[in-house]
Amino acid sequence: MGDNRIIEAEGITYTYPDGTLAVENAHFYLERGERVAIVGPNGSGKSTLLKILSALMEPQEGSIRFYGKENVKEKELRKKFGIILQNPDDMLFNATVMEDLEFGPAQIGMKRNEFEKILEELDEIFSLSPLLKKPPFKLSEGEKQRVAMACALATKPEVLFLDEPFSALDVGMKRKVVEYLNKLNAEGMAMVTVSHELDIIPRVADRVYLLNRRVVAEGKVEEILSNDKILTENGMEPLPVAKIAAALGMKDIPLTIEEFINALKSK
Ligand SMILES: Nc1ncnc2c1ncn2[C@@H]1O[C@H](COP(=O)(O)OP(=O)(O)O)[C@@H](O)[C@H]1O
Ligand SMILES: [Mg+2]
Repeated sequence: MGDNRIIEAEGITYTYPDGTLAVENAHFYLERGERVAIVGPNGSGKSTLLKILSALMEPQEGSIRFYGKENVKEKELRKKFGIILQNPDDMLFNATVMEDLEFGPAQIGMKRNEFEKILEELDEIFSLSPLLKKPPFKLSEGEKQRVAMACALATKPEVLFLDEPFSALDVGMKRKVVEYLNKLNAEGMAMVTVSHELDIIPRVADRVYLLNRRVVAEGKVEEILSNDKILTENGMEPLPVAKIAAALGMKDIPLTIEEFINALKSK
């Protein structure tokens, strides 16, 4: 408890106007600088929960505290939270990519020279230069995802929320982006990543919630991702590397190829 908790949610229930119960009695917490993931199959309520945790939507039931308070002003949260929505089209609405990048920083009153400095850094990671003058709707899906991420990072958020952020990125870009996010995390940025695919989770999270409308399991990434039974029961495919290791009778289940190779070498 105490000062370290950025988000603390209990009993969160959300039903859409058409009657769909998307999230039921879910709980969640995030501490400063943490890397947390929410995983679950399609339609398990991940995007809905992420919007609630990032204060974009309010639940019908349950309580949610930001920075230990019930009533933090939304404007304050917008300064601290960066959000990458699952569909980049929901985030890119200006005439050009440059205007989209400028939008968030302008909203929070960032100085121009600070914005230019961060844009330079983001350009190195996300290769934005050739895209700046283009209208967002003309970009490819991967380009949209890169721009959406850069937009969320342009305000230097204290917490970054990512909803299936790597789905359209190629392997090289994905590796570069993950490395950059982890550098920002080492400098203090907390991350909440939503994904229906498990392969990236060991690289972006230390703690994980398995969501199937309700929170069906939570714990360290090693614990949850090596639990074949609970994953399978909830519509998730365990990682191939974990399956092979379990079949070989390994005690410590590796979650990445590198861990697997190291475990084999040390035998
Ligand atoms: N705007 C909406 N109106 C009605 N139902 C919705 C809406 N958005 C999502 N849902 C439903 O809520 C459930 C959870 O959706 P979502 O949070 O997007 O899950 P996930 O991100 O895990 O795939 C699904 O059954 C989905 O069809
Ligand atoms: Mg989703």
